[in-house]
Amino acid sequence: MKVLAINGSPHMDNGNTALILDPFLEGMKEAGANVDLYNTRNLKIGPCNGDMSCWFKNPGKCGQDDDMKMLLPKLKEADVIVWASPVYYAGITGPLKNLMDRQLPLHIFGESSGKRQKVVLVSTCGFWDISMFDPLVSQMKAIYARPGGSTEFAGALLRPGADPMRDMMKGDGAAVLTSIFVAAKEAGRQLVKEGKISEKIQNDVSKKFMPEEEYKKAANAMMEEIKKSIKS
Ligand SMILES: Cc1cc2nc3c(=O)[nH]c(=O)nc-3n(C[C@H](O)[C@H](O)[C@H](O)COP(=O)(O)O)c2cc1C
Repeated sequence: MKVLAINGSPHMDNGNTALILDPFLEGMKEAGANVDLYNTRNLKIGPCNGDMSCWFKNPGKCGQDDDMKMLLPKLKEADVIVWASPVYYAGITGPLKNLMDRQLPLHIFGESSGKRQKVVLVSTCGFWDISMFDPLVSQMKAIYARPGGSTEFAGALLRPGADPMRDMMKGDGAAVLTSIFVAAKEAGRQLVKEGKISEKIQNDVSKKFMPEEEYKKAANAMMEEIKKSIKS
């Protein structure tokens, strides 16, 4: 099974999104999948120019010369595509959206890819409430869960209230976080072995890890620290 994961976080491996993405990919690897991970920050990929030359002039080919040339065949061959992104203004990050738009040469109107791909969303956000992910999940479903389409939206690993996670790992919160990372890894194993991620495991990744008031205090303290570190 070929898995292509793309992380749209500018923080790449040091971000909150990677805290969920990494064990998920690890679970898939341990279950035998062949996993490739790319970070948009390391890729040179401009926005789609919308000229439709990839449909009507040179079908299947993009006229731009950038890293999308390398990525398009990988997107085409993948059995599983993992879109990973922090929530930015209630959506995915700009670089990841640019990359998504540039898939147009693979989706020529009226042509089927002939391959049944599964798609997973991995996302983290600063807000406490899980509804912050609704626009991203809706977008994924609108793209990948169309009736009669060749793709399947296989689930989402969503971690709200993610901002204090790295600090929590150093203290008393480590145990609850470990259970979340274990769930993310299990999600990877399930996807490879069973073809889907159970609702229970998806909920375990999103579970509340502290009372809301405590979270707000931790988030405020973290903001103060960032402020200080930027000033110094
Ligand atoms: C420009 C920007 C916009 C953001 N917009 C939202 C938002 O709309 N909702 C939210 O809950 N968090 C928002 N956040 C917080 C991030 O989603 C959150 O910190 C995330 O876990 C960061 O992941 P990363 O460390 O992998 O980049 C925003 C952060 C930035 C920098």
